[in-house]
Amino acid sequence: MKIGIIGAGQIGGNLTRRLTAVGHTVSVANSRGPHTLKDLAEETGATPATVADVVRDAQVVVVTIPLKAVPDLPAGLFAGAADGFAVIDTNNYYPQRDGFIEEIENGLPESRWVERHVGHPVVKAFNGTYAEDIVARPRPAGAPDRLAVPVAGDDEAAKRTVRELIDAIGFDTVDAGGLDESWRQQPDTPVYGLREGADAVTRALAEASPERPAAFRAHREP
Ligand SMILES: NC(=O)c1ccc[n+]([C@@H]2O[C@H](COP(=O)([O-])OP(=O)(O)OC[C@H]3O[C@@H](n4cnc5c(N)ncnc54)[C@H](OP(=O)(O)O)[C@@H]3O)[C@@H](O)[C@H]2O)c1
Repeated sequence: MKIGIIGAGQIGGNLTRRLTAVGHTVSVANSRGPHTLKDLAEETGATPATVADVVRDAQVVVVTIPLKAVPDLPAGLFAGAADGFAVIDTNNYYPQRDGFIEEIENGLPESRWVERHVGHPVVKAFNGTYAEDIVARPRPAGAPDRLAVPVAGDDEAAKRTVRELIDAIGFDTVDAGGLDESWRQQPDTPVYGLREGADAVTRALAEASPERPAAFRAHREP
């Protein structure tokens, strides 16, 4: 598959490593430009590119940048992507990093906010996965210690594509429902950072509370 990754930090870098390792064709972009991605390119065989170039002909685009940077992505971001492309959103709202985002504070699921800014349905995945696990914890299908990743999204075809991709890089997935349910995997929920298999992930999703945890609310002086 041709995969474009926007963001080359902890998650974007390790997804580049893992996706190239299983044979996908990966382009990767950051905010400073392709010349700053030479080391990652040499290590992985991925192509360093601009944001516009990583999207071109991509069947899957991963958006993995600090949430507050999402509105800075260019208008018409996905022009030139392949027909039926899927977008993976790995992002989390950390008010300490991202500042006050009123719609999210008022209960809009974080991925719904991302989706509105990027203008295309997103599939939420990897937002609660430790970056190091992407390279350190892949296991073959059926392994007893295989980790599971919750995956939420409204576009069933895109969600299927993403779940198959995640399976191919060594993780089980759990269908976490549509994007309106995706608060179940946001920061500080039982499934967030849970290093377990599909049964425990399913249980943790069911145990989540829709109330935004205090640690992940912006604290503003009145
Ligand atoms: N770290 C984790 O374990 C983890 C786990 C799950 C989910 N997440 C979430 O996933 C997202 C990425 O996390 P991370 O830890 O990988 O972040 P990170 O290490 O801080 O890396 C962020 C990357 O985004 C790039 N970037 C920033 N603004 C951009 C823009 N406008 N256009 C293109 N690229 C841009 C940065 O490029 P420059 O360096 O050139 O600025 C950098 O490569 C965050 O929302 C985070 O909350 C992180």
